[in-house]
Amino acid sequence: MKRRKSELRDEARQALADAVNNRLSAERKERRSLPVIDQRLAAMTDFNTLPGMQEIGVQRAFGAVVGISNPFFRLHETRAGATTIIEGRTYDNYSSYDYLGLNGHPDVHAAAVRAIEQYGTSCSASRLVAGERPLHRELEAALAAHYRQEACVVFVSGHATNVSSIGALLGPKDLIVHDSLAHNSIVMGGALSRAERRLFPHNDLDALDELLTPIRHRYERVLIAVEGLYSMDGDFPDLERLVEMKRRHAAWLMVDDAHGLGVLGENGSGIFEHADVDPSDVDIWMGTLSKTLSGCGGYIAGPAVLAEYLKFAAGGFVFSVGMSPPLAAAAIAALDLMHREPERVARLHRNSQRFTDRARAADLDIGTSAARAVIPVVTHNSLIAVALGQKLFDRGINVQPIIPPAVPEKSARLRFFLTSEHTEAQIDRAIGAIVEARQEIGDGRSILMAAN
Ligand SMILES: Cc1ncc(COP(=O)(O)O)c(C=O)c1O
Repeated sequence: MKRRKSELRDEARQALADAVNNRLSAERKERRSLPVIDQRLAAMTDFNTLPGMQEIGVQRAFGAVVGISNPFFRLHETRAGATTIIEGRTYDNYSSYDYLGLNGHPDVHAAAVRAIEQYGTSCSASRLVAGERPLHRELEAALAAHYRQEACVVFVSGHATNVSSIGALLGPKDLIVHDSLAHNSIVMGGALSRAERRLFPHNDLDALDELLTPIRHRYERVLIAVEGLYSMDGDFPDLERLVEMKRRHAAWLMVDDAHGLGVLGENGSGIFEHADVDPSDVDIWMGTLSKTLSGCGGYIAGPAVLAEYLKFAAGGFVFSVGMSPPLAAAAIAALDLMHREPERVARLHRNSQRFTDRARAADLDIGTSAARAVIPVVTHNSLIAVALGQKLFDRGINVQPIIPPAVPEKSARLRFFLTSEHTEAQIDRAIGAIVEARQEIGDGRSILMAAN
C-alpha cells in the first residue's frame, strides 16, 4: 500500500522526537550517576578559600600573637587632617592626603553646600544620558587650564580614571611600560587593555630606554606611565628626560600626579612646575580629586580629541554616574585656593623639610624621599613597623605601617604624610617618639617574648 507523503513526514518527526528524548533521558541518567556535588569545587565557593583571605588571616594572627591592635580601618570621629580623633582621643595624624589643609576649609565647605542646595547630592546617571551640570564643565575647564591643555574629563574615582582610560586607549597590539612602583590602577588599566605590559625599575630611566629601544617597533601605540610623586617612597622621576624619551620612542607619556598636585613646585602645581617642564609637553595628565582637592574622583587632562574620545570610549565615564555636584564644587574651590594661597605650599615644604632634617639627624632611614610631604621611615621588618606604629599610637600619633604585600618585607615601613597644617611641635614630637619607641623595640625580640 502506498503511504501518503504527510504520513511519512509525521513518522520522521516522531522518530526525531524519540531520538532527542532518548538522548536527553540518557544524559539525565548519566548526570544522576555523578556525585551530587564535587566536594573540591564546592569548597571553592567558600569565600574563606580566596587567596587574599589567607594573607588577611596571617596578618590578623600576627597582630594577635604580638598583642597589637589592627592598625587598619580605624574609626575617625572627625575630618581627615593634621589632627584626628579616634575613640574620643585626639591624635597627631600622619595618615591623610590633605596636603594643603583644604578639607573643611570654609570656602570649600560653602561651595559644596551651595552645590547641594542648587543641584542636590547626586547626578543620578551618566552625563552622557542624564546631562551635565555647570560644575562639571567649570571643573574640567579649571583643570585643563592648570595643565595648559585643551581639555579635561573628570571621573567619579581616581582609580577608575586610570583603569578606564588606559583600558580604552590601548589594545592588544600596543605596549604599556610603567614604573615598577606604579599605582595598582595603572597596572589594572594595562591588564584591562590587553596590551603587553612591561615594567622598568623604579625611576631608572636608563633601564626604560634600554627596554624600549629594541622592542618599540613591535607595537603600534606605546604608553609610558609614571607617577609625579610616588606615594610609598616620596620620590619622583626626571620629567624632562621622560619628555625627551617619549618623543624619541614615539610614545605617549602619561603622568599620574595624584600626589604631586599641591605638593611639588613653589605653587604646588605639580611635577611639571618642580621640573620646569611645559605641562603641554606631556600627552596625558592624570590626577585625583581626593587628595589636595578635598573631593573624590579623578581626571585626565590633555588634547581635546583625547577628552572627546574618553567621553565616548572609557567605560568608567560612559557607564558611570556623573560626578556628585558638591564634590565637583569642592574641588573647584580647593583648586582656586591652592592657586591663590601659595603660602600653604610653602608651609608644607617647610614642614616636610623639618621632618626630613630631624629624621636624618636621628639616623632614621627615610629611603629616597625628596622631603616633599611623603616621608617613609623604613624599618626593614614588618613586625617592627607594626609594633612601632602601635607604640606611636599609644603616644597619640596616628601613622600607618606599610607591610607586605604592599611592599616587600625588607622595605616594611611607617609612612608619614605631612600637611601644611602640622605644627613644628607636632613634627618634633613625632621624631622624638619614633626614636624613643625604636629603642624600646630594639630588634623586635622583646615583643615576641612578651607575646609568649
Ligand atoms: C598614584 C595614585 N593614582 C591613583 C590613585 C587613585 O585615586 P583615588 O584614591 O582618588 O581613587 C591613587 C590613590 O591613592 C594614587 O596614589
